[in-house]
Amino acid sequence: MKTEQYPTFIFDLDGVITKTEAYHFEAWKETAAFLEYEISPADNEALKGVSRVDSLKKIVKWAGKEVSPQTFDRLLEEKNERYLGLLSSLSEEDIMEGVHQFMLEAKEKNHPIALYSSSKNAKLILTKLNIIHLFDVLVDGNDVTRSKPDPEGFELAANQSKTSPKDCVVFEDSTAGIEAANAIGMTTVGIGDIESLSIASRVCKNFKEISLNDFKL
Ligand code: BG6
Ligand code: MG
Repeated sequence: MKTEQYPTFIFDLDGVITKTEAYHFEAWKETAAFLEYEISPADNEALKGVSRVDSLKKIVKWAGKEVSPQTFDRLLEEKNERYLGLLSSLSEEDIMEGVHQFMLEAKEKNHPIALYSSSKNAKLILTKLNIIHLFDVLVDGNDVTRSKPDPEGFELAANQSKTSPKDCVVFEDSTAGIEAANAIGMTTVGIGDIESLSIASRVCKNFKEISLNDFKL
């Protein structure tokens, strides 16, 4: 699937393709409040890229609480219901600036395009954004047993794209995701603030700063 000239692009979803990170934060706030904990933007940074279950484990720990397995499952379900509610009006207009154009140009040049998102809602979101057809490979939270910062999902995305990890370029907004991709020698582009993403090969504010020519092998 890989071309001689160009790398495979592996996109994260939440916070890279669309601003759903803000919805996760919103939905977790109520969970944290139930546990008598106020979740901060810094806490949210540590939740980015982390699976739903691992995120709740962190929040319970920060709150210094213990919850029964039944309550834990109920909190997960309620958080996801709130999150899905916030997604209800998501559409093509919610694709972050420059992303769609970059993908179209990459497709035209035959770059394989892959997704690795920790989200179990990834396919639903890509369908709402009307870009699911642009992906050659889709790896999401349903396909892995270990969440970012473990590299399992990136390895799977590289394998399915028939590309060696060193020829993959990863777009990520989370420290956990950059850590995971760095661990197996992928090139990493952090999307967001340099403070939390300085371990990436390169950091950009958004896709307007990124051109396909930056990634010629
Ligand atoms: C990641 C987000 O993409 O997916 C996390 O960065 C989120 O914030 C995780 O918790 C799991 O998402 P979902 O949709 O399966 O709850
Ligand atoms: Mg993300």
